[in-house]
Amino acid sequence: MIVVTGATGTVGRPLVTALAAAGEQVTAVSRRPGDGTLPDGVRHHRADLAVAGSLRPVLDGADALFLLLSGELLLDGGGAAPRALLDAAVAGGVRRVVLLSSQATGTRPRSASHARLRAFEEAVRGSGSDWTVLRPSGFHSNAFAWAEPVRTARTVAAPFGDVALPTVDPQDLAEAAAAVLREDGAPRTGGRAQERTHAGRTYVLTGPAPVSPREQAAALGSALGEPVAFHELTREEARGHLLTVMPETVAEGTLDILGEPTDAERQVSPDVERLLGRPASSFAAWARRNAAAFR
Ligand SMILES: NC(=O)c1ccc[n+]([C@@H]2O[C@H](COP(=O)([O-])OP(=O)(O)OC[C@H]3O[C@@H](n4cnc5c(N)ncnc54)[C@H](OP(=O)(O)O)[C@@H]3O)[C@@H](O)[C@H]2O)c1
Repeated sequence: MIVVTGATGTVGRPLVTALAAAGEQVTAVSRRPGDGTLPDGVRHHRADLAVAGSLRPVLDGADALFLLLSGELLLDGGGAAPRALLDAAVAGGVRRVVLLSSQATGTRPRSASHARLRAFEEAVRGSGSDWTVLRPSGFHSNAFAWAEPVRTARTVAAPFGDVALPTVDPQDLAEAAAAVLREDGAPRTGGRAQERTHAGRTYVLTGPAPVSPREQAAALGSALGEPVAFHELTREEARGHLLTVMPETVAEGTLDILGEPTDAERQVSPDVERLLGRPASSFAAWARRNAAAFR
């Protein structure tokens, strides 16, 4: 049985769907049951990851755990110590742990905004399980923040209009996580025996090409069949918007990546294609699939 935390969110929901469609027994975990649209046969279990012990009853009979931390769990003092959570999982019989982390834990090893995720990576690596860490770039779906202004004024307002980053489709993240949780790691092509496992691996998951906010606005326009204007915000203006939905350290960390990406953050990683055996999905394709939210 596979336990999926964050199961009602952007990545967890399609992951639960992919695992259930593949015939896996899945327990979906979040604090609230969500909108009740989990696939037939998937058991939902309420648990608060801020309390390590609350995972215990969920883990009965679990072989694998997909671990996703969000919201206050990523802030200093945000609930259970990473080690306590991992100890609870391994004591509960979990052999494989897949952590959804972030590319920035590797590219910005001293950033305050990713300190908790770094601590979770360390705890996962020291857990004694067959661990795998997934480090995604920014999600295509962050563009949902523009849905209302695109719907009402056909305008996107964002900072750093011409800084291009290889954002990733959360559907690809879900499929990559499902592949890692289900497969024994046998590569699709070649590889020596000791390379044939996802255990002990860290994958960087990006989209297929860098795309700038201005290009994202244009892609939304193409998906809608109507032009979408782009208005560039200053860093300060963008900071003001971000502070309404996230704490200061996270807002500053986000703006640093968007405005002054490192060379590694600009690069396309081959790992989605390696894991899925097909190219990563573009922002334009994501925009076409999600156009209804912007109409
Ligand atoms: N967005 C990006 O560009 C980006 C880039 C790189 C990495 N990431 C990483 O992606 C993760 C966020 O993934 P997402 O977008 O799929 O999240 P999301 O859509 O915000 O969903 C969060 C999920 O976690 C559950 N949850 C939240 N707090 C919980 C708690 N205390 N106990 C148990 N469940 C809890 C939520 O349900 P309830 O609220 O009902 O509990 C929900 O199912 C973060 O770790 C972030 O660092 C994001």
